[in-house]
Amino acid sequence: MKENEKILILDFFGQYNQLIARRVRECNVYSEIVPFDTSIEKIKEIAPKGIILTGCPASVYEENAPTISKELLDLGIPMLGICYGMQLISYILGGNVREADKREYCIKKVKIDNTSPLFFGFNNENQCLMTHTDFVDELPSGFRNIASTDDCPNAGMANEEKKIYGIQFHPEVNDTVDGLKIIHNFVYKVCGCTGDWKMSSFVEESVKTLKEKIGGKKALCALSGGVDSSVAAILLNKAIGKNLTCIFVDHGLLRKNEGDEVEKVFREQYDINLIRVNAEDRFLSKLKGITEPEQKRKIIGEEFIRVFEEEAKKIGKVDYLVQGTIYPDVIESGVGKGQTIKSHHNVGGLPDYVDFEEIIEPLRDLFKDEVRKTGLELGIPENLVYRQPFPGPGLAIRVIGDITKEKLDTLRDADYIFREEIAKAGLDKSLNQYFAVLTNLKSVGVMGDDRTYDYTLALRAVETHDFMTASFAKIPYEILEKVSVRIVNEVKNINRIVYDITSKPPATIEWE
Ligand code: XMP
Repeated sequence: MKENEKILILDFFGQYNQLIARRVRECNVYSEIVPFDTSIEKIKEIAPKGIILTGCPASVYEENAPTISKELLDLGIPMLGICYGMQLISYILGGNVREADKREYCIKKVKIDNTSPLFFGFNNENQCLMTHTDFVDELPSGFRNIASTDDCPNAGMANEEKKIYGIQFHPEVNDTVDGLKIIHNFVYKVCGCTGDWKMSSFVEESVKTLKEKIGGKKALCALSGGVDSSVAAILLNKAIGKNLTCIFVDHGLLRKNEGDEVEKVFREQYDINLIRVNAEDRFLSKLKGITEPEQKRKIIGEEFIRVFEEEAKKIGKVDYLVQGTIYPDVIESGVGKGQTIKSHHNVGGLPDYVDFEEIIEPLRDLFKDEVRKTGLELGIPENLVYRQPFPGPGLAIRVIGDITKEKLDTLRDADYIFREEIAKAGLDKSLNQYFAVLTNLKSVGVMGDDRTYDYTLALRAVETHDFMTASFAKIPYEILEKVSVRIVNEVKNINRIVYDITSKPPATIEWE
């Protein structure tokens, strides 16, 4: 297989590093993130078409600030320094970096010189995200100014002959208008890439490296039926076939028909070594009488591990444990500083007492939409690939208060109707998450001539980019009405339906 062109991203612990890598991939060029202190020999061996230096929380003049050797700047490899990266290039090449009188942590207007290849196709003014305290006060010799804001005279610099560039702002974030175009210009106009990389290349490359790494050894994968673990499993199946065993723990808290659908795809379409464990009774007996949401999560998380562990023991020692961790999980589990609003049990992993040697996380660098593209490349059906997110603890956190099989079945039927009507109305692609919640509230109703005293069901639908904030979806009344009529007529034990009109914050997406 032909080696792809590569852009190397030197990691200085900037908060947007993976986003930079992803933007380069969006330009159809392969990118790899390596530590800032990767040796010159190694970099020469990788032979990248260009190098990007990321941001960093430090100041270049601090003692022990992360740095690179000047030799790297003399290799003739095109380079783009972003934020700290720009300051570092200046500092090493004899420019001056100092603390600004006024910090900039905001969206700014930036004047740009569109004669520079980096800004090809731009007007003279743009909007960008600035997050810095230090700035380049004096450019190193051989460099010219190519961008400025009213508080930062040198917001961009270029030595076009040496193909070395620096920008103080962040082209990788959405707040910088047309930031992708800047990266595109760097990759194509400065580095001369041809754009030979696609998501299918990711599949090919991953299969090849996984094959080489795992060889004839055995791997085990916990399958939840969600997109991430399904894509990871099928990627591994492609690489090592029957040397992969998947364990699908069905905790009985899945949506209607979900367990069977997942099993069908895996068995019929991929001929995967699959063990499905029907553990509904076990989970329900552990959850009996439990009403506190975090306790529910904890119990489910622990029980999941127990079941997995028991099944894994039957298989015996495996060499590798496969996990469908994706990049946003890595950030989320790495945070640790913020307050825990809800503990997401499937983030953070499985126990270390399952007998395996190493964890493999083939999707660790990918964002959700890239995982979906990978899934489509692997031939996974669209309905599975575009499945809306579903929490690890499943319907347990959508039955408010204590959980019974009867309540779960009621919720499953109601939720199914809601999803069906949303799909019929063509809203399933635009809503990011939509589901029903069985509240613990009973109220009086009337059906025919009879008084009823039954549950209130809540419908929830949100639009969101990142699930950290969300707005409630403005679903047309006619659709809500249709759903409401169908549910009260077709599902037992529900006599009232409400629609949740709170956004996040102040509410969360799930009710528990
Ligand atoms: P909240 O309710 O915190 O949800 O606004 C944000 C997103 O996370 C999902 N969620 C979970 N996912 N385990 C998970 O795997 C959990 O315990 C959990 N709780 C919430 C939720 O469905 C939404 O997509």
